[in-house]
Order: sequence, then C-alpha cells, then structure tokens
Amino acid sequence: MNFHEDASRSVAPITISNLLPSSINEDEAIMPIIEGLSSDHKRISSRYFYDAVGSQLFEEITLLPEYYLTRTEKNILKDVSPQIVRKLVDIDIIEIGSGDSSKISLLLESLPAERMEAIRYIPVDVNQAAIENAAKSLIKNFPGLKIHGVVGDFEKQLNRIPKGKKRLICFFGSTIGNLSREDSMKFMAELGRIMPSDGMLLLGVDMVKDIDVLENAYKDSKKITEKFNRNILNVINNLVGTDFVPDFFEHIAFYNEEHSRIEMHLRAMERMEISTPYLKGKIIIQKGETIHTENSYKFTHKHIDDLTRAGGMDVKNIFTDENKWFSLIQFCKRA
Ligand code: SAH
Ligand code: AVI
Repeated sequence: MNFHEDASRSVAPITISNLLPSSINEDEAIMPIIEGLSSDHKRISSRYFYDAVGSQLFEEITLLPEYYLTRTEKNILKDVSPQIVRKLVDIDIIEIGSGDSSKISLLLESLPAERMEAIRYIPVDVNQAAIENAAKSLIKNFPGLKIHGVVGDFEKQLNRIPKGKKRLICFFGSTIGNLSREDSMKFMAELGRIMPSDGMLLLGVDMVKDIDVLENAYKDSKKITEKFNRNILNVINNLVGTDFVPDFFEHIAFYNEEHSRIEMHLRAMERMEISTPYLKGKIIIQKGETIHTENSYKFTHKHIDDLTRAGGMDVKNIFTDENKWFSLIQFCKRA
C-alpha cells in the first residue's frame, strides 16, 4: 500500500484515510489521561484498550463461552440478514467500531454476488491495523465489494466519513454501552444527523439480565479479560511515558445495579509512585486504590426508547434471541 499526501492509502478496491492526528496532541489527549490518573476517582478511558495487543485480546474474549454477547448477536444477525439486505442496493454500509469486521460478513453473505459492486463498505475504527486486515480478507471473500476504511475517533469524527449515497449505519457489539448514558444520547443525536432520510441504523445492545450471567462474562475462567484490563496500562505507558507495572494490579469486574452497568477497575496490590515526563511530581497510588477502566452499560426497553428519541428515529424492528439477552435494533429516520 502506498501513502498519498492526504494520508489516504489505497490498493483498489481498498482505500484507507486516517483522520487521527499524526502525533499525539498534548492538550487534547495527554492531559485528560494525566488528569484522570491524578484525580481522587482514578480513571482511564476505555478507548485506550484497543492497541494491537488489546484488539487481539478482545477477539479472544469474543470466543469465550462466558462472553455470550458476540455469539448471541452473530446468531441474531445470521437469522435476520436476508430480511435486512433485501432492499440494499447502491448503498454505503458504514460500520462504527468495526474491529475485525466479522459481523458485517454475516450481512454480506446474504447479498447476491451480482449486487456486491453497488456496495461500498466503510469501516470506522481507531485501530488502523484492524481495518487493513479486515479489508484484505473481505475483498477475498466478497469480490466486487468496494472498501473505504476510516481510521478515526467515532466520538468526534463521524461527520468526516465520506458522503455518497444512501447509508446503512451499523454499530454492533453493544459498544454504545461503553459510553455514559449522557454520551450515548449525544452519540445517537449525531447518528441522526449523519443519517440521510432514507437511511437505516442497526444498533446492537446488551440487555439487563441475571447478575451472574453478566458478571461471568467479565470475569472469565481463562482470565483473558484480566489480561485485557491490565493491558490498558501498557497502552498508557506507551502513550504518556508512565511506568506502571500491570502485574501489580488486580482485575475487578462487578455489576452496578443502580446504574445497570458492569464496571471494570484495576486495584493496586501495593502502594506505588508513578512517574511521567508530563508531570513534575509523582502520581501516588495507595495500596487497594482502584483505577476505573470501563463501564459497560446494559439496556432495558426504556433505555432503547430514550436512544430512539435522542436520535430522532423510529424503531422498525427489534430482533432478539430466545433468552432476550441481546437486541439488534433496526431504526429508520423519523418521518
Ligand atoms: N464491532 C466489533 C468490535 C467491538 S470492540 C464487535 O462487535 O465485535 C470495540 C471496537 O471499537 C474496537 O475495534 C475499538 O478499536 C473501537 N473503538 C473503541 N473506541 C473507539 C473510538 N473512540 N473511535 C473509534 N473506534 C473505537
Ligand atoms: C467492546 N465492548 C462492548 C466490550 C464490552 O463488553 O463492554 C468490551 C469488553 N470489556 C470487557 N470485555 C469486553
């Protein structure tokens, strides 16, 4: 792949544009991380899980028996894809937080080969390698498909996705649950803005359910989620030059009933003093103190109604599984 001046890379029929700044911005990226680590309630944004190692660990999580989310959503998608793709012609399929793009494959498999040339797939993810790898394998499996990858931040850059024709927007995996309730409403409003009047949104959300089922999904017996959680400290060490030793932290995951969310934290097993070139003093972490790394909100039909209203949309269908553990919601724009 050759670099172009506009930071786009291309090998027909794949083009990739990178919207992320070429060097990390101190005010916008580094200072919020340092502030989060210096505050009384220490926290790191969950978007920092996804370096190459974190993305690989996430893929391993999706295969775990306890992590029912991916398996359940994929089974729903397999069932309903023929119905969803029936009217897909001449369309851009935008997938937000696309990861390994394995879910979009299930939709594309339902499309007759002769309609592939009229489809442009636009995966949007912070992880460029994930987009490149997914694009290469999609092209092999779906000849004729055009792909334009967008490496960018879905919380800030959705309005920079190339415009074209009709749009199907997909946001799978309950990744919307990693945003606060307030941010998820803002996010839906933004999706409403980028969705044309004849567009469609497919949104996957994980539903409130038995606490043991929820907690086991984030405390797996193979301890892959523990590795995933600890790896965020390696990512932060690389980004802001801290000297965290991930093994000195314990993985904590529990369901917070009041907020209907799984919380993940890292608990310090001993007192430590952390240095970074961006701070004169040290960050002191007491033994037993925690760093909050992720919220994974779970949904009820009331929450789905709130999202629908925030996006200015109408629900066309809610597809679910036999246990009603996961919902795939098909929205259209409110008339
Ligand atoms: N959609 C896939 C992957 C979900 S994991 C699935 O359902 O299995 C979440 C994905 O979102 C990761 O690939 C991660 O790199 C991406 N991501 C997380 N925060 C992001 C952000 N702010 N902007 C763009 N991508 C983000
Ligand atoms: C990507 N996201 C929806 C996952 C979740 O379930 O919240 C990330 C994850 N965290 C721990 N395990 C998986």
